[in-house]
Amino acid sequence: MSTPMLEIRNLRVQVEEKEILKGVDLVVPRGEVHAIMGRNGSGKSTLSYAIAGRDGYEITDGDVLLDGVSITEMSPDERAAAGLFLAFQYPIEIPGVATMTFLKAAMNAQRKARGEEELTTPQFMKEVRSASENLSVNREILKRSLNVGFSGGEKKRAEVLQMALLQPKMCVMDETDSGLDIDALKVVSEGVNKMRDGGRSMLVITHYQRLLEYIVPDRVHVFSDGRIVKSGGKELALELESKGYSSFDKVAGSVADGAAA
Ligand SMILES: Nc1ncnc2c1ncn2[C@@H]1O[C@H](COP(=O)(O)OP(=O)(O)OP(=O)(O)O)[C@@H](O)[C@H]1O
Ligand SMILES: [Mg+2]
Repeated sequence: MSTPMLEIRNLRVQVEEKEILKGVDLVVPRGEVHAIMGRNGSGKSTLSYAIAGRDGYEITDGDVLLDGVSITEMSPDERAAAGLFLAFQYPIEIPGVATMTFLKAAMNAQRKARGEEELTTPQFMKEVRSASENLSVNREILKRSLNVGFSGGEKKRAEVLQMALLQPKMCVMDETDSGLDIDALKVVSEGVNKMRDGGRSMLVITHYQRLLEYIVPDRVHVFSDGRIVKSGGKELALELESKGYSSFDKVAGSVADGAAA
């Protein structure tokens, strides 16, 4: 078997001295799309922040490996340069920095970290043009400050465009339940589906069974109280919708068989 793209081993994370992640085990093989579902406050966003290396998320045990290499000691920038991309539930707003400028800086920072030449402005413009056409992103929003006053859908479009430009090998997407209309949902799914290929893996955090009709996952994991309590195929999302999360809370005590399933 080839090295998994993402491997999380017994990950325990504390936030302000409170343990939030209580031993997460997860393997996302190369080329697969996995979904994580779970009730509010179960620790899904905490998992994405811990993977990203955000300040204040203290790993007390376990490991996170990207393409076979431990990333827990790397800075967020180093993780990005290694091919990790995080799309957050609440995207940051950067007043005064045009989206275009931000995208170029993000691309060049990664190229620099990999020892590659920086893109010239014409080269960058060419890439943006082709990516935005490919994803039907209106280039008008690129002139505006990043995410400032963007609608939910525009934020998602900017995010998917960033993902297309950076060509990460592992994408982690934390979607919010509110604020995404059907168009935004489609933008995210189409963008994700266009980027699906054998060399790229994705982890999609969502409450939406509906999103998973557009992005059909290879595996679905149920999160409860800081760990994965059950894993299965895409039909697990439907089961969750009909039974609710409470039926899965009961198995939280017998995590071992749930996570290995
Ligand atoms: N900075 C913090 N200080 C204290 N507790 C925190 C902090 N950040 C998160 N938590 C707690 O950690 C738990 C998990 O939060 P998290 O945001 O990871 O949940 P989630 O599964 O993403 O929820 P949602 O579905 O609502 O997005 C919650 O109980 C939350 O209150
Ligand atoms: Mg969350």
